[in-house]
Amino acid sequence: MSKKKMTILDFQNYKDEGRKFAYVTAYDYTTASIVNESNCEVILVGDSLAMVMLGYSSTVGVTMEDMIHHIKPVVKGAPNTFIVGDMPFGSYNVSAEQAIASANRMLMETNCDCIKLEGGVDLAPTITKMVKAGIPVMGHIGLTPQTSTSLGGFRVQGGTPESARKLIEDAKAIEAAGAFSIVVECVPSVVAKELTKELRIPVLGIGAGPDVDCQVLVTQDLLGMYGDFKPKFVKQFAQVRKAMVDGLNLFHEETLNGSFPSAEYSFNKDVEIPKLY
Ligand code: KIV
Repeated sequence: MSKKKMTILDFQNYKDEGRKFAYVTAYDYTTASIVNESNCEVILVGDSLAMVMLGYSSTVGVTMEDMIHHIKPVVKGAPNTFIVGDMPFGSYNVSAEQAIASANRMLMETNCDCIKLEGGVDLAPTITKMVKAGIPVMGHIGLTPQTSTSLGGFRVQGGTPESARKLIEDAKAIEAAGAFSIVVECVPSVVAKELTKELRIPVLGIGAGPDVDCQVLVTQDLLGMYGDFKPKFVKQFAQVRKAMVDGLNLFHEETLNGSFPSAEYSFNKDVEIPKLY
């Protein structure tokens, strides 16, 4: 039986009922259809596509056109899964009007279920206007990869009493602005636990310990596919990269020794070959 697609209201219902859920990335039709077949409830078409799919060194270079190009096939491949479109760097940091226009475009051209953007207290006035304009917004605080250079790199956030207080202020501002949920990335477990207790909306944790409402991971990380690096918070639940290399090597071997294609994989119909001369 295919799973029932989660709605925005379910995010709050799940939190209120203390029911956990799982959130992963996809950037293409095939992966989306695999996630759709799994029990995972939410897909993020993250701007991490810059690094995971396009080989960039950060998420900053990915464009709105890139995002739309990748969100469309994911929406097609995962009809029973809630789909989040990530707003790329530069598409919402000029003004609230720019943010609304960018989000409208993403929602209208892809038919994804909501958008996600990165930022805390400073972004809250923009989120207020977006929500008033009817845009479903998921926040993202803590380690915000689009501004990781300003944060001093990919590092744990909220590790001192002052920065933990700033995180809590950021989270409360995003909730008050009307976001329906918030990603919290790379923070100490005790801080994420406190945030989860303090916030009414669900906290979606990545590298945020066990006491959050939902766990988020990049699919290529959790399946052991991405080979460039592995953050400390990533558990590999499968070794798909190895399985793929093994499969490719078997194909190579059978090509060279002639055992592929056997009769089973060939068209064996008898055809009388006409004499050409
Ligand atoms: O783009 C992404 O994959 C993300 C996750 C790290 C939450 O924003």
